[in-house]
Amino acid sequence: MPTFDSRWPALNTCRLRLATPGASLLMLVAAGGFAAGCGNPESGNGNRPDAGHEPQPTPALREAASRAGILIGTAVDARALAMDEEYAELLALEFDYVTPENVTKWEPLEPTDDAYAWESADSIVDFAEAHDQAVKGHTFVWHRQLPRWVTSTMTAEELSAALKAHIETTLERYRGRIRAWDVVNEAVDVASASGYTESVFYDKLGPSYIEDAFRWARAADPEVLLFYNEVGIERMGPKSDFTYEMLKELLERDVPIDGIGFQSHVSTHRYPSLTDLQANLRRFAELGLSVNISELDARTVLMPGDREERWLAQRIAFQQVVSACVGEPACEAVTLWGFTDKYSWIHDDTPEPEAPLIFDHDYERKPSYDGVLDGLAGKYPQQGDNLIHNGDFGDGTDSWSVSGGTLEVASAQGRSGNAACVNERSEAEDGLIQANLLDVLHGGGAFSFSAWVRVAGDSDATDAASVEAALIVKRSDADDDERSIASSVVVGGEWKQVTGYLGLGFEEPPENIELVIYGPASGIALCVSDVQLRPVSP
Ligand code: XIL
Repeated sequence: MPTFDSRWPALNTCRLRLATPGASLLMLVAAGGFAAGCGNPESGNGNRPDAGHEPQPTPALREAASRAGILIGTAVDARALAMDEEYAELLALEFDYVTPENVTKWEPLEPTDDAYAWESADSIVDFAEAHDQAVKGHTFVWHRQLPRWVTSTMTAEELSAALKAHIETTLERYRGRIRAWDVVNEAVDVASASGYTESVFYDKLGPSYIEDAFRWARAADPEVLLFYNEVGIERMGPKSDFTYEMLKELLERDVPIDGIGFQSHVSTHRYPSLTDLQANLRRFAELGLSVNISELDARTVLMPGDREERWLAQRIAFQQVVSACVGEPACEAVTLWGFTDKYSWIHDDTPEPEAPLIFDHDYERKPSYDGVLDGLAGKYPQQGDNLIHNGDFGDGTDSWSVSGGTLEVASAQGRSGNAACVNERSEAEDGLIQANLLDVLHGGGAFSFSAWVRVAGDSDATDAASVEAALIVKRSDADDDERSIASSVVVGGEWKQVTGYLGLGFEEPPENIELVIYGPASGIALCVSDVQLRPVSP
């Protein structure tokens, strides 16, 4: 198995590397910009192309990443790279790791049976080499973006032969030039009966296609790093658990898997708490895997608040995920799924744009850029004091009430400390309330929320139920405004941590603000413990 350091020593990102003799002017310009970003005072601003600003002392991301000992990557849009000079310039300046966003998927690489189209992929690999960037290939086995000729009409033998040939041919072409590959992408789907994604691969070959793909890849190139990549496994939960067990079992049988990518397409209003993410990265690392954050972006639209608040919260989201990687010894790279909102795969044609990345459409740095920079510097977002009085129910029911049903505080069953239970609920809205939060929340800002919840039917039935946490903003002249903080489906009888983020601002001063926690159908008891609402700042 290759080691991470032997073939790929930490890239010295502050070394001026001019492009190769055959390189285009664009590459030379980009290389110059990159050098400037490494703090050469003679080279002008060095941070962004619009030199109208004062020179900024902050280093480019790749310099900060190399100090942190990790790679900072981005997905690359091959068309933008070919057509947009500013895009290419920033790509070279800011990143030392690149993943083709689409052009190394099976369909674009082998659109017709046995006829390969290497040109776009080559252009990204050439660019990366000219700018001292490592490359991650993405992805051999995925149920999307498959060539039309890969169909369920193939026999199992034909399908596995085609997959094997595709892996071997592609690895052969890029041997020594591509550092790592996502061999299998998104094979887990806990909503399906088997837990595996229903795909032509699973249907024809069963789960063994996963290990076959890794073994074929290792046999074809013993040096390249082989990754499993998955979506929606950042937080602890059933999908992350399934993936963990699957990889553990494969590794026990010596299937050659070097690392795991956590895609991390997060939403600013809801993403894993720092402790949850850290614990999750750690347990995969303890399997002996290298860990990547592989496709980070952060949607913003569902976050309440105005743009400034949402972008502040987005900054904190980026900072939190990046700092979690920097703090995890096995985390070797953070790759963003693009860097400018201009080309994000999350389309911005809605009235309120998602704006999920770190540069805006005009290549201006957004607050999230600073979030990445701070994360790379190992700075965790700051959590202020808990604003919820008696959030651990140590003082009984003090400051808590219910909107329906009965309230009982007792020692939590299955957790340390106390829990408050709302029993005899007659409506889904019946839940736990803490009123009078105006004093502590009137200034607005970004907040993180966390609570442990447990639901149980009157007959102790263990069905899943949904639990919501929200702030109710009350104004005398208007309807109450419910701002969702977190929502989660919880398994009956088990404690689960529900977390969320909230950007809070007011056009008019409210009369009161209440926290409510509610949700399961009537008749299901809702127990809550350890409620925290904390201001967060970068
Ligand atoms: C996306 C690309 O960004 C889009 O341009 C394309 O249309 C669809 O695929 N998970 C993955 C990536 O592993 O390959 C996906 O990329 C985003 C979700």
